[in-house]
Amino acid sequence: MKYLVANWKANKTVPEAISWFRQVSSIKNQVSRNFKIIIAVPLTILASLKKISPPFRLAAQNLSPFPSGPYTGEISAEMLKDLVDYVIVGHSERRRYFGETNEVVVKKVKMALQSKITPIVCLDEPYLQSQIHQLTNVPIHQFIFAYEPLSAIGSGKPDTPENANRVAREIKKITNKAPVLYGGSVDSKNAKEFMLEGNIDGLLVGNASLKTREFIKIVQAVRLIEQ
Ligand code: PGA
Repeated sequence: MKYLVANWKANKTVPEAISWFRQVSSIKNQVSRNFKIIIAVPLTILASLKKISPPFRLAAQNLSPFPSGPYTGEISAEMLKDLVDYVIVGHSERRRYFGETNEVVVKKVKMALQSKITPIVCLDEPYLQSQIHQLTNVPIHQFIFAYEPLSAIGSGKPDTPENANRVAREIKKITNKAPVLYGGSVDSKNAKEFMLEGNIDGLLVGNASLKTREFIKIVQAVRLIEQ
């Protein structure tokens, strides 16, 4: 199985998002049983995309560590479950700017799983081992990991495909073969290289996913990789 996840972060209004989906409609036929394309959009846009997004899957970029209830400003897994199949948890931007600790990540992962939303758990070096070990009493096989080295995110300086594959192998060893994505300055020129060695099951693409032409090229590059 191959995955391509677009992470829009805090970008796009509803009309911009609808226009993006119209512009990529030519690649909808690339989605198959073995190739999932997942778009992680802001919460404000989710409901407007439910009808036009298939066969792409939708993801949230965050969820509450608490259940539904008196938590002003929060969005619980229960509220998300009819809108998304996936949720990104533990992204380094959330760890860095919003104080998301390993404990909070574990709570969010549990909430997601209870509502049958698949967590995409981000790990960054040099904390990778401790981040995974926090999760050992959660059913790890039910989620996807994304290796996102801090220095590579949004910097235009991706990890080397060799190192990313090495880390992916390491994560698979600890997690008993959970799927591992790579994220950090992926674009249409380097996307294929990360996938060639076969340890990386997909890509998590931030900035380059915002532009439809670039995103279409990345989809085409990943589609050509046999796995
Ligand atoms: P980037 O972001 O592709 O813009 O580096 C990746 C991510 O943060 O998920």
